[in-house]
Amino acid sequence: CHVVICCGIKLLLVCLLPAGDATGYGPVFEEQPVDTIYPEESPEAKITMNCRARANPPATYNRDIDMDADDHYSFVGGNLVISNPVKNKHVGMYSCVATNDYGAIISREASVQFGYLDFFSSEERQSVRVKEGQGAVLLCAPPPHYPGMLSFRWMLNEFPIFIQLDKRRFVSQTTGNLYISKVDASDSGNYSCFVSSPSISKSVFSKFIPLKYPADLKVTFPDTTALVGQNITLECFALGNPIPVIRWRKLDGQLPSTHELGMSGAHLHLNNVQFEDAGTYQCEAMNSKGKDYHSARVSVEAYPEWVDHINSTEKAIDSDYTMSCVASGKPKPYVRWLKNGTVKEMKFTGLTFEDSGMYQCIAENHHGVIYANAELRVIACAPTFEHNPVKRVLGAKNSRVVIKCQPKAAPKPSFSWSKGTELLSNSTRMFIWEDGSLEILNVTLADEGRYTCFAKNDRGKANSTGSLSITEATKITLAPSNADVTVGESARMQCAASHDSSLDITFIWSLDGHVIDLHKDRQHYERTPNGSSNGELLIKNTQLKHAGRYSCTAQTPLDNVTASAQLVVRGPPGPPGGLRVTDITDKSVRLQWSCGADNHSPISKYTIQYRDSFSKDVWKDATTSPEVIEGNVETATVVDLFPWTEYEFRVIATNTLGTGDPSTPSAEVLTLEAVPVVAPSDISGGGGTSRELTITWTVGLATFHLSCSDGGGNAMNSANQKLLIQYKGTLKGDMLLFHISLIPQSQDKIKGI
Ligand SMILES: *[C@@H]1O[C@H](CO)[C@@H](O)[C@H](O)[C@H]1NC(C)=O
Ligand SMILES: *[C@@H]1O[C@H](CO)[C@@H](O)[C@H](O)[C@H]1NC(C)=O
Ligand SMILES: *[C@@H]1O[C@H](CO)[C@@H](O)[C@H](O)[C@H]1NC(C)=O
Ligand SMILES: *[C@@H]1O[C@H](CO)[C@@H](O)[C@H](O)[C@H]1NC(C)=O
Ligand SMILES: *[C@@H]1O[C@H](CO)[C@@H](O)[C@H](O)[C@H]1NC(C)=O
Ligand SMILES: *[C@@H]1O[C@H](CO)[C@@H](O)[C@H](O)[C@H]1NC(C)=O
Ligand SMILES: *[C@@H]1O[C@H](CO)[C@@H](O)[C@H](O)[C@H]1NC(C)=O
Ligand SMILES: *[C@@H]1O[C@H](CO)[C@@H](O)[C@H](O)[C@H]1NC(C)=O
Ligand SMILES: *[C@@H]1O[C@H](CO)[C@@H](O)[C@H](O)[C@H]1NC(C)=O
Repeated sequence: CHVVICCGIKLLLVCLLPAGDATGYGPVFEEQPVDTIYPEESPEAKITMNCRARANPPATYNRDIDMDADDHYSFVGGNLVISNPVKNKHVGMYSCVATNDYGAIISREASVQFGYLDFFSSEERQSVRVKEGQGAVLLCAPPPHYPGMLSFRWMLNEFPIFIQLDKRRFVSQTTGNLYISKVDASDSGNYSCFVSSPSISKSVFSKFIPLKYPADLKVTFPDTTALVGQNITLECFALGNPIPVIRWRKLDGQLPSTHELGMSGAHLHLNNVQFEDAGTYQCEAMNSKGKDYHSARVSVEAYPEWVDHINSTEKAIDSDYTMSCVASGKPKPYVRWLKNGTVKEMKFTGLTFEDSGMYQCIAENHHGVIYANAELRVIACAPTFEHNPVKRVLGAKNSRVVIKCQPKAAPKPSFSWSKGTELLSNSTRMFIWEDGSLEILNVTLADEGRYTCFAKNDRGKANSTGSLSITEATKITLAPSNADVTVGESARMQCAASHDSSLDITFIWSLDGHVIDLHKDRQHYERTPNGSSNGELLIKNTQLKHAGRYSCTAQTPLDNVTASAQLVVRGPPGPPGGLRVTDITDKSVRLQWSCGADNHSPISKYTIQYRDSFSKDVWKDATTSPEVIEGNVETATVVDLFPWTEYEFRVIATNTLGTGDPSTPSAEVLTLEAVPVVAPSDISGGGGTSRELTITWTVGLATFHLSCSDGGGNAMNSANQKLLIQYKGTLKGDMLLFHISLIPQSQDKIKGI
């Protein structure tokens, strides 16, 4: 045996036998190995390299090829079979040596390569926008592949309808790009680049590339500045065929509630514009060919307006005085002051007669100017009670009484008080205020009498006398008592009072410190007429929110008195809280929650409901383990769910008084994937071009289409749902068997096989 190194690629052993008789002849190749591309995903997991030679005596073939090192190799006659080929081991150049007694010949070299064509990236493809009459290029960007040789076709909207190429449409077989010259309306739609590798008989197609054909719309309106209170109109012109529909929106909020549309939507009227209407407005024009939009800002400014301004006034000599002028507006107004036409400081400490005069303040921004005019008169006079004598005052026993003393005087007088002839001074019960008023706390009958106020300044003095009479104090005679009712029932809160018969009495009810508006809440509250000194409150159709502390205040013009009681309302439980989903499997989840308010009746059981992505609007009762969830339990397992489905859950508590509100729904959870239990059905096929076959089948309710060449490929749902369907076909006799995997394109996971 000789060892031959053949082309430096593979080690071959060639055995030469001694020469035979004259009728024999040396080997002549009848079949030689050919270059082979092995598809990486080939269902037939072997490569066969053929080699056959005519020879007499019959040839033997080199079968010693690394056999010991690699058990993937085997021989069938002269053919080399590589089973379960491995890329980094079996790629290379192969040749065959045929040998008999007359000698040996070596075949041509044939390569073994691995072929592949990856799927297109699952990222969304950017849409291409083009106007009528322009040209468009849609980029194919084929995925990684080997060998380089690919063929390209494009699909529009539906699978597997390929675009017929014509004068306007051209597909580069080098780049795969689709060129459309002079786009027209019929060109808009979803395009997908369909790439086939003939060497490995595999095809893949891209995500849809939408070709948008905007209406020939010209939408525009300028930035606008409006004044508060004005009516403004924004105009949006949209030319287009078909006539576009115009829609308005405010990008930073809701359109003002007062807006009106005119001119078939081309005009947006904003009436009585307010500051909050400022913002960015967008007009969108849309027709069947596309849409266009434009945004512009609306700023709102305002004419100056007085918040506070000077008025004509009299002020006592020597007193302090600050004139105030405050104006609002946008931009913020600039305020100026004038006295007798010249600018002046408007703060006075110790007014003099010279400060008298005409004053003006002026507020101005670029929208306008406003004036406020006032006369200041500085006066001096002795106190006089002529227009405002001290009055006769009534006070209820134990209440607080204030007797006012308000003479006209300038400068401000000093005050003193006497009761009869007795001079009064500050004590624990009595105060003489800065403004002259006399306050007496906890008055008794002994405080009745005549009270005189003395006022004095540097111009003179005066006095005035009034009287104080004491009435009976108001008392609660029938106080409300604590009560306990069930939702829907009525409750009665009693309240009656005794009071001085010369005074009017009113009853005021409050709940937890908030006064009850009996008129507004008349559905639930009613005062039962039961005599003028009775304030009984009837609470009808009591709800949970009506529970709390009820206070009855009996009030006369002179005093008031309060009594209160607690109302407990029993009802169905409140919503459970803190709902969490854990332990997610393909058919079950575990829920945990915490109980809500029991509303004074123990929770007897919980119900669990779910909704899934198939029925977003309907909550259905879930099957749980344990089947009945007792009121003292705060966890349960939901069973009988579907795999790979999004669910939301909620929990509802029940007590003897009824079923409460549901908890807020849980976060959406996805059950784990599982092998489908239903095999595809209604499989049929036909059509297609040469080397192509369209297969359709049904899984559940969705029908799928599959077009394949004789090895593998992919397909899509007829409804263009985001599903990628991969399959491997195996030729068995005259049948193609398909193993079909459904793969949502958004996720890199197999939903089922
Ligand atoms: C293109 O696809 C989008 C979403 O995939 C769909 O909303 C639209 O209707 C499709 N357009 C056409 C013309 O099929
Ligand atoms: C604004 O429009 C309303 C309703 O059309 C109208 O009543 C009002 O007088 C207008 N106001 C101004 C300032 O034009
Ligand atoms: C001036 O008079 C108006 C209304 O008469 C009042 O609202 C305002 O507060 C007055 N301003 C001053 C500084 O007293
Ligand atoms: C201006 O103000 C003074 C007081 O400062 C006053 O006496 C006088 O009458 C006012 N009028 C004119 C026209 O100067
Ligand atoms: C009485 O007390 C009040 C409050 O403490 C005080 O403002 C007032 O000046 C006092 N009056 C006299 C006359 O002392
Ligand atoms: C006034 O009466 C209230 C109770 O009614 C009491 O708390 C307070 O101490 C009394 N004040 C005086 C000064 O007697
Ligand atoms: C109170 O004022 C009157 C005049 O209105 C006067 O006759 C009387 O003397 C004054 N009383 C005292 C105590 O000053
Ligand atoms: C009216 O009030 C009295 C007590 O003041 C009470 O006894 C009576 O039941 C009340 N009547 C009605 C109809 O509420
Ligand atoms: C009841 O009287 C007190 C003083 O005794 C007073 O502060 C309170 O405002 C009065 N309540 C009502 C409702 O008038």
